[in-house]
Amino acid sequence: MKIVCTKDYQDLSRKAAMLLSAQIIMKPNAVLGLATGSTPIGLYAHLVEWYQRGDLDFSEVTTINLDEYRGLPRDHAQSYHHYMYTRLFHHINIHPDHIHIPDGAEPDPLRACAAYDVMIQRVGGIDLQLLGIGLDGHIGFNEPGTAFELGTHCVDLTESTLAANQRFFASREEMPKQAYTMGVKTIMQAKKVLMVASGKEKAEIVKKAFFGRVTPQVPASILQMHPDFTLMGDQEALQRIL
Ligand code: F6R
Repeated sequence: MKIVCTKDYQDLSRKAAMLLSAQIIMKPNAVLGLATGSTPIGLYAHLVEWYQRGDLDFSEVTTINLDEYRGLPRDHAQSYHHYMYTRLFHHINIHPDHIHIPDGAEPDPLRACAAYDVMIQRVGGIDLQLLGIGLDGHIGFNEPGTAFELGTHCVDLTESTLAANQRFFASREEMPKQAYTMGVKTIMQAKKVLMVASGKEKAEIVKKAFFGRVTPQVPASILQMHPDFTLMGDQEALQRIL
């Protein structure tokens, strides 16, 4: 495990974007595993800026997103489809056929999830997987207690995730109660993993996940066993481990 400490969120966003850019420069047809959430927003803005400046070319890149709410139409303002298109895909020259996000509109979980794992294998696996970390140690939508052996699957969102995400929806009723997510096994099969963490509220879970026991109760802790894992955090997020 490598740990990179950055000054603040701006510095984190720029350095993490540099690592993704390096991957694309070294392998123009790279397969990037992408995350949503608040942490990668600055990083995606840099990728767009560098593409517009002519420094990056996404024409051969493939992207595979971690997760999507089940039952939310693609164009819903809170869908991860919407997030990814508005923050990144609409602004770069990625081929539409190279973009993969679990299909939240597919009602059959087996169809949605098995097809996703087959697709990941078909494109040759993920070269670099970007991750954020939840306050309870979740990665993707893999909540505490999730078996490490799972591939892409359907999850019931926990009370803590529902509570954390409720602010994005008009009411609790409107909020999806399930999601499709890559499993921990899928994530661990990525050749490289880069986690970004920002802010003091992440400090405790970062310490628990990477300096504590490897346990399904803290899903991110399995990354301690990944052969090429980088944790990049700002000083606030890393304050308990520096
Ligand atoms: C997003 C995802 C989640 C987030 C995590 C951290 O696709 O899978 O696991 O990475 O909830 O979210 P933020 O960055 O908002 O703290």
